Amino acid sequence: MGTLRLLAMTKHSMKILIFGKGYIGSRLELAWKDEAIFSDAYINTIEDVEKEILKYQPDAVLNAAGVRGKPNVDWCEDHQLETMMGNTVLPILIAHACAKHGVYLLHMGSGCIYYGDSVHEDKAWKETDHGNPSAVYSRAKWAADLVLSTLPNVGIARIRMPIDWVPSPNNMIDKLATYPNVIDVENSVTVLDDMIDVFRQMVEKKAEGIFHVTNPGTMRHRELVDLYHEQVDPTHTCNWITEEELVEKGLAKKLRSNNFLSNERLAEYGIHMRPVKEAIRDTMQKYAEAKKIEVREEE
Ligand SMILES: NC(=O)c1ccc[n+]([C@@H]2O[C@H](COP(=O)([O-])OP(=O)(O)OC[C@H]3O[C@@H](n4cnc5c(N)ncnc54)[C@H](OP(=O)(O)O)[C@@H]3O)[C@@H](O)[C@H]2O)c1
Repeated sequence: MGTLRLLAMTKHSMKILIFGKGYIGSRLELAWKDEAIFSDAYINTIEDVEKEILKYQPDAVLNAAGVRGKPNVDWCEDHQLETMMGNTVLPILIAHACAKHGVYLLHMGSGCIYYGDSVHEDKAWKETDHGNPSAVYSRAKWAADLVLSTLPNVGIARIRMPIDWVPSPNNMIDKLATYPNVIDVENSVTVLDDMIDVFRQMVEKKAEGIFHVTNPGTMRHRELVDLYHEQVDPTHTCNWITEEELVEKGLAKKLRSNNFLSNERLAEYGIHMRPVKEAIRDTMQKYAEAKKIEVREEE
């Protein structure tokens, strides 16, 4: 039997039922094409989820639905109930239906449940560390992690500050390129090409418990802006301000969560991500190409 045929047989295709056709859900669809099935259902009950599971008979469910506030997370500060329903109750409903039907669930969490440095020597937060969230959105995300992580056959993938070569207002590159005032903070971040690959492997391996899906190492906002300047727009400029000024100037209601995450748990399943410096340089090159195509199509 030819090697190619053997490879095709071992990497069997999967049916992954995705809830949430937002930024990340749509990006997964672009990457996975026929392997992804999108649910159009708006979920209010366990039965709503069960109907979709029975209809599509998926190998796994991926929850990319949630409420993260529009135009930004500050919206959640005075829409507490909507935020809890979308980020705490909804994942529990989905988990309940998946458990009833014996279907693996990959739920998307967020790394913004941690504020500041951890107690560990390297200051990074481990998957086993409890959250210390302040903002309403972060509290609601942490509440879901706290209970879902007690269930078997459930994986929780926490991401942070998505960086991608596909231009989008949700992409960290576009955000930093368009904000006139930028803070230079250091964080763990998630490059979406790597995240998509990790999610596929987590689903295949039915990885259980909490995982930090962030690229090893940390990134300062300035590094990404410098790469943008170098590869996309040499005329780009911005005004650098402090975190406190962001709130003082009325550009944010609450201080944002900044932190470092260690992603030790992925290695338990033999899953690895590229170091952040390598991944952001590669992504910015692809982003520059995508922008050129966008401009050519507009002409
Ligand atoms: N983007 C980020 O920067 C980021 C960072 C860390 C973690 N995350 C997490 O990643 C996940 C996906 O984020 P995203 O950026 O793709 O968010 P998004 O663009 O806001 O998409 C979320 C989607 O979920 C849908 N939704 C909300 N409640 C629903 C319900 N009851 N039933 C069905 N669909 C529902 C929303 O529909 P409507 O808009 O119609 O309500 C929306 O299409 C979320 O859990 C988020 O917390 C995102």
